Amino acid sequence: MAGMGDIHGFNAMDARSPLSLPRTVALVGLMGAGKSAIGKRLAMRLGLPFVDADDEIERAAGCSIAEIFEKYGEADFRAGERRVISRLLDEAPHVLSTGGGAYIDPETRALMRAKAVTVWLRAELDVLFDRVRKRGHRPLLRNGDPKEVLARLMTQRYPIYAEANIVVDSTAQPADRTTEQVIEALRAHLQTEKTPA
Ligand code: S3P
Repeated sequence: MAGMGDIHGFNAMDARSPLSLPRTVALVGLMGAGKSAIGKRLAMRLGLPFVDADDEIERAAGCSIAEIFEKYGEADFRAGERRVISRLLDEAPHVLSTGGGAYIDPETRALMRAKAVTVWLRAELDVLFDRVRKRGHRPLLRNGDPKEVLARLMTQRYPIYAEANIVVDSTAQPADRTTEQVIEALRAHLQTEKTPA
């Protein structure tokens, strides 16, 4: 029998009921995808803490990500990133923004898939480039033409990001609108988790 809020298959309660998250929501995607901008808004909307994995890595290392790359190289950065994300995933549910390469590391990806709901913010090259070009703090974009680097990373990484639980397009539209789309996609995803196959 249909539930109380169910009118012709549409659950009338859905649109207004608050979304309660059973576990952390981890945002993945390339540099410039909007993981921090959307993540902060999403955390506000869900009433959860926002955590930026890159900030936590910098805090743990006592220096900037650019310095970690310079002094120790990318492999050491990835190992530190793995440790920090593993620790964060054991904390209470929150919105976690991860650096663009985190989900590409097989071990970090496995942890995220096991312990979080993963959301890929997918964006086109021009959108990404427009967002990253004003800031020069990203070590991977200092090696060569940033647009070419982004295009290469899209080819390498998009098939892997596509394994995320949820995919939302991050476009040039206002961040609040994209945040709304993430919330709706989360709602739909969590509903499918509840419904037995
Ligand atoms: C990286 C992305 C950066 C940062 C590091 C490496 C990557 O984070 O973790 O520079 O491999 O794509 P953002 O995606 O937040 O810029």
